[in-house]
Amino acid sequence: MNIISPSILAADFGNLNKEIERISEAQWVHIDVMDGHFVPNISFGLPIVSAVRKLTAQVLDVHLMISNPLIYAERFVKAGADFVIFHMESDDDPKEVIRAVRNAGAKVGAAIKPGTPVEVLYDVMDSLDLALIMTVEPGFGGQSFLFDTVPKIRALRTFCNENGLNVPIQVDGGINLETAAICAQAGADVLVAGSYVFASDDVAAAVHSLMHL
Ligand code: DX5
Ligand code: ZN
Repeated sequence: MNIISPSILAADFGNLNKEIERISEAQWVHIDVMDGHFVPNISFGLPIVSAVRKLTAQVLDVHLMISNPLIYAERFVKAGADFVIFHMESDDDPKEVIRAVRNAGAKVGAAIKPGTPVEVLYDVMDSLDLALIMTVEPGFGGQSFLFDTVPKIRALRTFCNENGLNVPIQVDGGINLETAAICAQAGADVLVAGSYVFASDDVAAAVHSLMHL
């Protein structure tokens, strides 16, 4: 069974309460934080994480698309993140960010953009709780899946197997029934889906279909 993490970037923020209820069948909730600097878009920040934390006991994975994750990591943990995911392309030393998230009491994930080689993750894999391979350029929901990211999923899965690492691999961007199956086949365990889930008339069915591909 795959872990499904609907991205609330595609939710109706005027009805956050109802939107969180709609995705109650999913195990996780994906929260996309964008700073208008690391990515060319601004979404939301700490208050939304706190608000979602009050609405659900689901696992909250907070995807930080921000330039200085080190400065903010602890605040996102305090706001209620179960996982804090930072980008390897950000300015900070990955090992310091990993330590900061852990010391604050949450699990830590590292993400790479489509253009970043997967080998960048190898160095830190043994200290991660999650690895995120972006399957679109971060910054916007509703984009098309980039198929040339799939070999990176496969390579990371092989790397984990060969090194006895049990780190879940998350994919994010352009996930629908077809691309989810390709990613799961390549070795992904956690599927983030925004528009596919929230645009569906039957959200529970959409979540279940991704869960049991
Ligand atoms: C993109 C975000 C994604 C996005 C996914 O920068 O990290 O989480 O919300 O949205 P869809 O599933 O619509 O591509
Ligand atoms: Zn995301």
